[in-house]
Amino acid sequence: MANVIVVGAQFGDEGKAKVTDLLAKNADVVVRYQGGANAGHTVVANGETYKFHLIPSGIVYNKTCILGPGMVIDPRAFLEELDGLIKRGLDDSSLKISATAHVTMPYHLTLDAAEEDKRGGNKIGTTKRGIGPTYADKCARSGIRMEDLLDKEVLKSKLEYLVPSKNVLLDRLYNLESMETEQILKEYLEYGKRLKKYVCDTSALIFEAVGQKKNILFEGAQGTLLDLDHGTYPYVTSSSPSAGGACVGAGVGPTIIDRVIGVSKAYVTRVGEGPFPTELIDKEGDRLRETGAEIGVTTGRPRRCGWFDAVLGRYSVRINGLDCLALTKLDVLDDFDEIKVCTEYKDCITGVVYKDLPSIGSRFNQMTPVYKTVKGWKKPTTDCKSVKDLPKEAREYLELIEEQLDVPVAIVSVGPKRDNTVVVEDPIHGPKRVLSKQATANV
Ligand code: IMP
Repeated sequence: MANVIVVGAQFGDEGKAKVTDLLAKNADVVVRYQGGANAGHTVVANGETYKFHLIPSGIVYNKTCILGPGMVIDPRAFLEELDGLIKRGLDDSSLKISATAHVTMPYHLTLDAAEEDKRGGNKIGTTKRGIGPTYADKCARSGIRMEDLLDKEVLKSKLEYLVPSKNVLLDRLYNLESMETEQILKEYLEYGKRLKKYVCDTSALIFEAVGQKKNILFEGAQGTLLDLDHGTYPYVTSSSPSAGGACVGAGVGPTIIDRVIGVSKAYVTRVGEGPFPTELIDKEGDRLRETGAEIGVTTGRPRRCGWFDAVLGRYSVRINGLDCLALTKLDVLDDFDEIKVCTEYKDCITGVVYKDLPSIGSRFNQMTPVYKTVKGWKKPTTDCKSVKDLPKEAREYLELIEEQLDVPVAIVSVGPKRDNTVVVEDPIHGPKRVLSKQATANV
């Protein structure tokens, strides 16, 4: 293999877990670099379905799995997930947690929910897993890190300062019950005792693995359009899912990265609020949701569905420097007479046409999609094993996406199981994107 970043190229839930699962087999180390228990990754392996929130799915293969310093970890959620996996026979001996990853505390969970309620009509639609407040404390330099759970004096002194100030917020701003410092201290020291064996300097571990020429897979959660800096702000998560975030969030230099693979669905879904130009609020949207079983793994919320958006796709290629694309859930489109691909946006007020994502967050809702309509293939694709098995119209659909995004499609997923996969090109050693076209970004 090589050192590879797998990144969501849309709004999250692109099916990254299936792609990382395919690649993890040949990796030595799998590193999750951002996010927390807001993520939900489903893997179908050996006839069993696993749902991961915090732990890299590489644990299924007994790989060294790292929760990197860029993550925010809720110890309760982590231990619950871990216990469930151990019960199912998975081995935790190669699981490592960065000592500097931040800890989601009980007040973060309560504040996430309270802030969302207070936003009213401007809510973000967060997963209420405490993600935003944990990252906010990290940036304010008021966070608790994994290493703090291992040191009673440090944790005590931090909590004695932090809990009273959180209580002021809870009480005065949100009219909610205060929290007890002593109780939190006791509970989190207990977590520390259980977590101690996993906590270490994971950046040093990765550095050593790089030196030994091991293969490292960097696994992102969420997606590029949910990136704090590059997504549809403020309707974003609070971390950096895009490829640049992998280096910061894992503690490695960009020079060790060999490839960046973007994962996109053959259509688009989004959970939570925020702009979504190709959203279908009609029977076709319902059909995509039902056929694709588009329900959030973490929150159980129905996902918003729409046609493939090449404007967002091109943006993702640019932000992540994608080398190739893995296109998932192609089979969901098997039965459609016609399929649409958004190639441009038209501002419905000014009439201006945008081929690339315009940097005007507040006017995003004015963007109406300009579609290219193609004929559906009306044949099942789930048993296709190679490109030549795919119906002609399905191959043309892939070519259209490649042409629109100027990036090769290396993997096509045609069903949930590992073998429901068409490998068009080797995603690691096969052709990668060549910067052939002149940049067209609207400036
Ligand atoms: P938060 O990450 O819980 O703060 O939520 C912020 C936004 O990101 C909301 O729109 C969520 O629905 C969305 N989000 C968070 N995690 C995921 C995910 O794993 N998949 C898709 N959307 C997510």
